[in-house]
Amino acid sequence: MRKLGVGVLGVGEMGKRHAENLRRLVPEAHLVAVADVFAERARQVANELEIDRSFGSLEAMLECKDLDAVLIATPDKFHAPAVIMAARAGKDIFCEKPLAITLADAEAALAAVTKAGVPFQVGFI
Ligand SMILES: NC(=O)c1ccc[n+]([C@@H]2O[C@H](COP(=O)([O-])OP(=O)(O)OC[C@H]3O[C@@H](n4cnc5c(N)ncnc54)[C@H](O)[C@@H]3O)[C@@H](O)[C@H]2O)c1
Repeated sequence: MRKLGVGVLGVGEMGKRHAENLRRLVPEAHLVAVADVFAERARQVANELEIDRSFGSLEAMLECKDLDAVLIATPDKFHAPAVIMAARAGKDIFCEKPLAITLADAEAALAAVTKAGVPFQVGFI
């Protein structure tokens, strides 16, 4: 079975942990790339995890041809826009909680996911 290609957006505390788990503990997943607005942090995490690709934005990471899914672990206010962008690109999505910080943003994100028909999960403890 082909591995699921996953990219992690936001590699602070939580995102780095997700990236490590995907890289080392989930045999069905292939950590394709990491991205962070702080591009140097993304580069460092990519080096530590011994992967080739790091980016400074989701937009750039979405160019990866082998990317099937996006894991979003940015600060809360960036979750909904990232969900919308990933859904429009047809990617499976795991988003750290909360989905959004306003009801309108949450509804917009869910509408994008529904329209795209992509698998979507919000991460709670
Ligand atoms: N499920 C849980 O148990 C759990 C626990 C802790 C945190 N969280 C959630 O995880 C998210 C991240 O928390 P954290 O503690 O890792 O935060 P953090 O501040 O340690 O990391 C956030 C990272 O996102 C980057 N970033 C900021 N804006 C960005 C953008 N627009 N695009 C790309 N990268 C961007 C930052 O440079 C930073 O590296 C939060 O939404 C938080 O609610 C969930």
